[in-house]
Amino acid sequence: MKILVVGGGGREHAVIWKIRQTHPKAQIYCAPGNGGIADMAECLHIPVTDVPGVAAWSRRHFIDLVIVAQDDPLALGMVDELLKNRIRTFGPTRACAQIEWSKSYSKELMKKYNIPTAGFEAFDRAGDAYAYLESAVYPTVVKADGLALGKGVIICEDKEQARDAIRQIMEDKKFGSAGDRVVIEEFMTGPEVSILAFCDGKTIRPMLSAQDHKRAFDGDHGPNTGGMGAFSPSPKYTKEVEEEVMRTIICPTVEALRAEGRVFKGVIFFGLMLTREGPRVLEYNARLGDPEAQSVFMLLKTDLLDIMEACIDGRLDEIELEFEPGSAVCVVMASGGYPGPYKKGIPIKGLADVDGDVVVFHAGTKKEDGALVTAGGRVLGVTARGEDIPAARKKAYANVEKIHFEGAQYRRDIGIK
Ligand code: AMP
Ligand code: GLY
Repeated sequence: MKILVVGGGGREHAVIWKIRQTHPKAQIYCAPGNGGIADMAECLHIPVTDVPGVAAWSRRHFIDLVIVAQDDPLALGMVDELLKNRIRTFGPTRACAQIEWSKSYSKELMKKYNIPTAGFEAFDRAGDAYAYLESAVYPTVVKADGLALGKGVIICEDKEQARDAIRQIMEDKKFGSAGDRVVIEEFMTGPEVSILAFCDGKTIRPMLSAQDHKRAFDGDHGPNTGGMGAFSPSPKYTKEVEEEVMRTIICPTVEALRAEGRVFKGVIFFGLMLTREGPRVLEYNARLGDPEAQSVFMLLKTDLLDIMEACIDGRLDEIELEFEPGSAVCVVMASGGYPGPYKKGIPIKGLADVDGDVVVFHAGTKKEDGALVTAGGRVLGVTARGEDIPAARKKAYANVEKIHFEGAQYRRDIGIK
């Protein structure tokens, strides 16, 4: 079987690692991949956003299954293009992925179908947004409508900060056309939890809960990042909370998409906040979370390809997801300076000393003359299992200490909260 995975981060490494466990003989390709993926798949020099390039290559090489794992190609309609070329594909179409690439679309959908989320207003003109600030309640949350690498959300303590946020997004175009529209949201508080769920358009199967750590520094300080670590499952996501989330959020979301004529096949990521008034949706993503997938896949027992095939064929109801007992913790090691500017090309040492049962998922790495060097902001995701979160945490950090690259930066508190 020939499989192509589109993406090149820790999440894509986790997808390929998981498939490899049960399909050692599959021919796996990855566009563009990274230094770690190169050890278990053939990496292609095709950028993730090259929609016609990926479709043409897949056709020419008789690829049996393409897995589109990253947000940008989903937003560009890569799945639509592959399906048009009669290539079997796992991932949502552009219309389905709109729940991620347009925050205003997802908010309108939730409003229409009574799915609990923060109250909001959307604006296409900066003038209207500024005017709205006069009557807003503070703190308030200003969000760029489109994709902004998880950095387009600004929590504003007062009107001045909110004005500044709108100016950056709509006038300075800090996030490009993602800022053509802003969403201004009610500020909520409570613990956050991520639920990644497979969906075939009718049936939805959530995986174990996970918690991301979005801020750069310990104690949730510093700027927002793509995610500095994750653990799974979240002790806050109790059976009772799960039951309520299924009833009020997860099932209604699938129904809402169906009612809108959007048959979602792929992974829906529910970013939730457990507020005092009950669970609320912070955001949807149309794909696996990164680094949540790394910690959840450490515990997933069910064959990932079987699940994906069932999603494509609309028979996910035949699959029950099974998980290992215990917990998993993923600690991200990033380049010094991330999420600001950082150096690349720094040699990475110590990977050979890592324990056999710990998995180091690569994100920003590449091979240069046979040596592994840094090539991005988030570099590695050191992931360990244990009988509970403290045990998994201890093992993950014991192995982080064995890995070295100049300027390496990581949080010391993943899994403590
Ligand atoms: P998002 O990309 O929409 O999930 O937002 C990124 C982060 O901003 C979330 O994980 C929350 O920590 C925070 N956030 C987003 N929306 C709100 C809100 N309405 N109230 C409080 N915090 C929020
Ligand atoms: N970890 C958050 C995300 O993947 O969007």
